[in-house]
Amino acid sequence: MCGIVGYVGPKRASDILLAGLASLEYRGYDSAGIAIAEEGRVDVTRRVGKLANLSAAVAADPPAGVIGIGHTRWATHGRPNEENAHPHTDCAGRIAVVHNGIIENYLELREELVAAGHTFRSETDTETIAHLLESLYEGDLTAAVAAALRRLHGSYAIAVLHADHPGTIVAARLDSPLIIGVGEGENLVASDIPAVLRHTREILVLEDGEVATVDANSVTVVDRDGAPVVSERMHIEWDLDAAEKGGYEDFMLKEIHEQPRALRETLRGRVGDDGLIQLSELDMTDEQVRSIDRVFITACGTSFHAGLVAKTLIETWARIPVEVVVSSEFRYRDPLVDDRTLVVAITQSGETADTLAGVREARQRGGKVIAITNVVGSRVTRESDGVIYTHAGPEIGVAATKTFTAQIAALYVLALYLAQTRGTLDREQIGGIWAHLQDVPGHVETILSDLSAVQECAAVYKDRYSSLFLGRGIGVPVAMEGALKLKEISYIHAEAYAAGEMKHGPIALITSEVPVVVVATASDTYEKVVSNIQEVRARGAEVISVATQDDHDIAKHSEHVLYVPEVPELLSAILAVVPLQLLAYYIAKYRGCNVDQPRNLAKSVTVE
Ligand code: AGP
Repeated sequence: MCGIVGYVGPKRASDILLAGLASLEYRGYDSAGIAIAEEGRVDVTRRVGKLANLSAAVAADPPAGVIGIGHTRWATHGRPNEENAHPHTDCAGRIAVVHNGIIENYLELREELVAAGHTFRSETDTETIAHLLESLYEGDLTAAVAAALRRLHGSYAIAVLHADHPGTIVAARLDSPLIIGVGEGENLVASDIPAVLRHTREILVLEDGEVATVDANSVTVVDRDGAPVVSERMHIEWDLDAAEKGGYEDFMLKEIHEQPRALRETLRGRVGDDGLIQLSELDMTDEQVRSIDRVFITACGTSFHAGLVAKTLIETWARIPVEVVVSSEFRYRDPLVDDRTLVVAITQSGETADTLAGVREARQRGGKVIAITNVVGSRVTRESDGVIYTHAGPEIGVAATKTFTAQIAALYVLALYLAQTRGTLDREQIGGIWAHLQDVPGHVETILSDLSAVQECAAVYKDRYSSLFLGRGIGVPVAMEGALKLKEISYIHAEAYAAGEMKHGPIALITSEVPVVVVATASDTYEKVVSNIQEVRARGAEVISVATQDDHDIAKHSEHVLYVPEVPELLSAILAVVPLQLLAYYIAKYRGCNVDQPRNLAKSVTVE
């Protein structure tokens, strides 16, 4: 969603805000803006489009002020134009506000404020906050913000600047992330950690309803009743390198190449000296694990595809029925959750609004909720009963890659743990699977060591308008993820199907212009997949197969083969998806697309 940054200290604020916004640009890139307080006034600069447009405008006339707030926008209310860009100001132009989230009652408030004489200049919900503050301000900015929050319904993270208080930023949050970076003689406010890391590794995470008053030398936090709060500081271990490109052309390519490390880190320490899988994060007695009679998995997008992989793993190994539901549907379908239900919420960001809503629904119904996330301290970690972290490091590219394979690694651990505790696999079987799993990161390295086949293939198909992705069994979610990656970053239409379903409709789409990507790795249904390949080739389609090393026969049935090392069928998902990530990446690059910031998308979707 949108990115927020604020700075107060001795340095020129505009430099720090622009650098901070650059590391948050993945959260939204429709428009960007900054407000700087100086000499008793607030100056706002905003531009439509990428941050570079704002940077150029600021460079032409750099403000000298040492306090400011900035924003990079992903439009929700109002088109992406300059009037709707943040920061928004009140009538007098003395209060500036940046906001991430949605104010649900903004129309009602807007009508009330217009009736009271306020003049609005944008279509946004955010501008309402600026005028509301103007109407409530009586000399104490923190008090005005607290009073405004009592009138706002919805979700927000806000940072506010007032010309009368040129040393103070007031920040607050509800259901949208906001952190304070605590420095030496300077402090920052941001919606995500990379924006503050150049200046400090000490952070405070604001909780829902809290209001922070941030000066250069102090941070004061109060809760929604105005009572002082002592927030716990967190020290961030990872450094900025992890959030920068490190010699790669794009974050996405870097993150694809970081998968072996992300997998090793996520699997590390999961088997004890006794050979048993360790999963203390589940925080359930063996008896409780044995009493689970149903698993729900709720997630969106790529995380949903990881959930589909997990369904096969849990049902096959632990013999528990699993339902995977996209989060935006989960809570509206009166889900059959009770105290014997385990609900797994998968969200790399930990802040996807639909998934969080599903978590709340599940807990209200008595379900035990375990979150799988990549972001320490994120919202989902606070709302779930237990958390399994994927240790993938920060993912900046909007298209999820390393977090997807790390999620699957974490789900292997969960599925094996459930099977071990319920006795559906014995120690020897688990040991055998684990030994193969340990080899997976090295196999991904092998795939990444030679990109020539995938590059060649991408060059051939880069100008097609449509494509089909097929798979069977665990290959179905892999095909779905491959299709999602391609459409997200290259804008080529891509549809994924269970290969056996194809003849029930999608085969009508086949022409020689529509390439078909088939997950054809070694499996019990391999022969059937080959039959499906023949069906589409008979109708003129060109086929790109993802196949197991040494499967020479497949080359007779395919125009292109992308080989992956051999592993047992249920472990093949991680390996088979890597060539599809690369295929999408190179096709998008050859088409000249911005792979890190595809149009209309944002890294995390914090609105329902
Ligand atoms: C992935 O490439 C997408 N950008 C998107 O589908 C994403 O997976 C989805 O929004 C869920 O995000 P989350 O894992 O942070 O909840």
